Amino acid sequence: MTDNYKNTAYIYSKNPDDTQALGHKIGNLSLPGDLILMTGELGAGKTCFTQGVLNGVGSLEHVRSPTFVLVMEYNGRIPLYHADLYRISQTAELESIGIEEYFHSDGICVVEWADRFESIFQLDHLAIKIDWDEEGPSSNKRRIQLTSKGSRHAKLINDVIDSESHKTI
Ligand SMILES: Nc1ncnc2c1ncn2[C@@H]1O[C@H](COP(=O)(O)OP(=O)(O)OP(=O)(O)O)[C@@H](O)[C@H]1O
Ligand SMILES: [Mg+2]
Repeated sequence: MTDNYKNTAYIYSKNPDDTQALGHKIGNLSLPGDLILMTGELGAGKTCFTQGVLNGVGSLEHVRSPTFVLVMEYNGRIPLYHADLYRISQTAELESIGIEEYFHSDGICVVEWADRFESIFQLDHLAIKIDWDEEGPSSNKRRIQLTSKGSRHAKLINDVIDSESHKTI
């Protein structure tokens, strides 16, 4: 089954609206239990993308920084849990906030700085990696790589690229 799905795609963003539009599309296609793991340097656009996901699940709220509470909860068509692991340095800290429970909940989890917690990538997930293009940080252009683990998240990528006219590889 998995073999029928591509599990890597690249989408090119020219500005914050493009990045939010991709997030919106993914939020719209998401199902309870989906896990979105985001990586990319400071200012790459992870929160911008998350804002799109939140609107795509039907919430008009603005994403607020989860830096102090670590996980923010929003109510859309389905709940959205937004975590930012930037300041997390030890797995024990994550366990103490009960993050695993969110991964097995009825909502969608979006995690910024997921690479702070490498073992998280063992779970089925959609990975979103945002990079500057060759023009570097002075540019608004971004290359957004989508990869997946597990057939559900591979299908999610396929549903996204089916509905996109963006260039994919
Ligand atoms: N194509 C683009 N996509 C997303 N953001 C862009 C783009 N071009 C410019 N920007 C700007 O880059 C910044 C991205 O900020 P954002 O908070 O989303 O980054 P982040 O990856 O969440 O950073 P942090 O690691 O600090 O949480 C915003 O100021 C946004 O306007
Ligand atoms: Mg952010």
